[in-house]
Amino acid sequence: MCGIVGYIGNKQAYPVMIKGLHRLEYRGYDSAGVAMINDDGELNVYKKKGKVTELENFAKVQDISGTIGIGHTRWATHGEPNDVNSHPHYSQSGDLVMIHNGIIENYASLKEGLIKRGHTFRTQTDTEVLIHLIEDIKKSESMKTGHAVLAALNKVIGAYAIVVLDKNDPNTLIAAKKGSPMVIGIGDDEFFIASDASPIVEYTKNVVYLEDEQVAIVRRGEEVKLRTIKDKEIPLYVHELEMELEAIEKGGYEHFMLKEIYEQPRSVKDSMRGRLNAAEGKVQLGGIVDHLGKFKNAKRIMIIACGTSWHAGLVAEYIFEEYARIPVEVEYASEFRYRNPIIYPDDVVIAISQSGETADTLAAIELAKSKGATIIGVCNVVGSSIPRASHAGSYTHAGPEIGVASTKAFTAQVTVLTLMALHVAHAKGTIAESRYRQLLYELESIPNKIEEVLKQNDLIKEIANIYKDARNALYLGRGYTFPVALEGALKLKEISYIHAEGYPAAEMKHGPIALIDEEMPVFVIATKGLNYEKVVSNIQEVKARKGKIIAVVTHGDKDVKGMADHVIEIPETDESLVPLVSVIPWQLLSYHIAVMRGCNVDQPRNLAKSVTVE
Ligand code: F6R
Repeated sequence: MCGIVGYIGNKQAYPVMIKGLHRLEYRGYDSAGVAMINDDGELNVYKKKGKVTELENFAKVQDISGTIGIGHTRWATHGEPNDVNSHPHYSQSGDLVMIHNGIIENYASLKEGLIKRGHTFRTQTDTEVLIHLIEDIKKSESMKTGHAVLAALNKVIGAYAIVVLDKNDPNTLIAAKKGSPMVIGIGDDEFFIASDASPIVEYTKNVVYLEDEQVAIVRRGEEVKLRTIKDKEIPLYVHELEMELEAIEKGGYEHFMLKEIYEQPRSVKDSMRGRLNAAEGKVQLGGIVDHLGKFKNAKRIMIIACGTSWHAGLVAEYIFEEYARIPVEVEYASEFRYRNPIIYPDDVVIAISQSGETADTLAAIELAKSKGATIIGVCNVVGSSIPRASHAGSYTHAGPEIGVASTKAFTAQVTVLTLMALHVAHAKGTIAESRYRQLLYELESIPNKIEEVLKQNDLIKEIANIYKDARNALYLGRGYTFPVALEGALKLKEISYIHAEGYPAAEMKHGPIALIDEEMPVFVIATKGLNYEKVVSNIQEVKARKGKIIAVVTHGDKDVKGMADHVIEIPETDESLVPLVSVIPWQLLSYHIAVMRGCNVDQPRNLAKSVTVE
């Protein structure tokens, strides 16, 4: 977590950095800070607890001039969120300042050594230790060439994306990364450094993605130089960004989350574009084509992910098992890596992640890789760490997701995983041709069906108004819609702070039913399919205990309508594809409830979009 920006060039650095920090605020918003060197060589550092606007309010009456600077928006790990613990952090002399995203795990022992050498510390952060260490090493190694930084990084255990600014050298920024993301934008006589491309795209499309353990020496008027921390020179490889500026702006919507919910007809289409041709019965997933043999021979698929991506993994489990007939295990990445999992070389491990940077998922990939498994990444952010750590994979192409609560990433993940499962099933011959074609046609129609559900927004808003003050909520689903129940509950709790639980509908009677009373809203997906009658019985069990039922049903349904307090109709689709359509009402519902409760929808408390700490 944490967002970092840096600028060096002909423009004033501050406005570029502030705009960039606003775009990176999804990564953390406990505090923000900037440092600039003005034309008189003075270093000005401003930091404020709270959001970037707090910093702006403070800085507007300060000297914010200078054409070189660094900025940071923080998600606190070590040290409470206050002005002092905010980044940038100073070295002992105050000449060096640094911003950091990540965690220095051995900071305590490094700090002890530095204290013995006369250093004193102003904050409780791990970051301050690293900038002191760099200054300590600077006595014998050059700052300008990046050697003081790379020597210090050789002593560090942990994750970092850092940028260092030296008051005595207003022409150089030194950046480095391991485990946390970093992109360098190359403009005309100017350079941009950021955690992702969103602060850069407006100025240049030419970017360099820094790799782990690389240090970039960014000097005014010179070409960027790259070295590894082992001091090996690395050639510069410049990529062209595909992202457009409009994709990271709100485009008239009140919140990014709402924009992203409404984008789903398009984002689902984008995730299928060039990959699905129902008329010809073809699925083409270029990224995995060379690994199809691995899938065909796999005795097992393991899916690793966190949060919403894990829910998409659960949907994929049902689809892969049903059609490709391969046993699937879905694991929380954070659990997987801390037990001693049995992984075979012929296992296929699918790692799902919107950001492509989730630390636990990355670490789980490394573990599975070390045991010889094949890693397939399903990620949204192009060029992020997980696709680069994977053997192969497919991007979800949902476009930038900025609202902290994941919405369009989920539907894009489920779409790509469905395509993947059908592709494998067809190649293995475990699905009948007619069923395969039927599913492909149905998949093609999903964007229009999502469009239909979005038209129910007013009704969903009315329902939200009735239940906005609930203290608890239960979400139920069965079969393919069980993961949607989990996802609905997660959406509600993370943005509206209402306690919610997702449950398989039939499990309710094994415990949660005790919670049901007239106060308890129960959100159920009761679409037509294999388990329909069973879910109807579960609804009756709730009604018998005076619970309130809000049901998502198939268009034209009569039975549930007769017993539910509210129904939201969605278009009929194949049971395997229902998650893609039935999740939309729950996304909208939690959005409206959160807005009505006055919550910060795009930046819920304590959360960050990209969880780059373990
Ligand atoms: C929930 C949410 C999180 C993420 C989780 C994994 O709305 O956004 O639960 O799904 O942190 O993140 P990624 O997919 O980036 O690995």
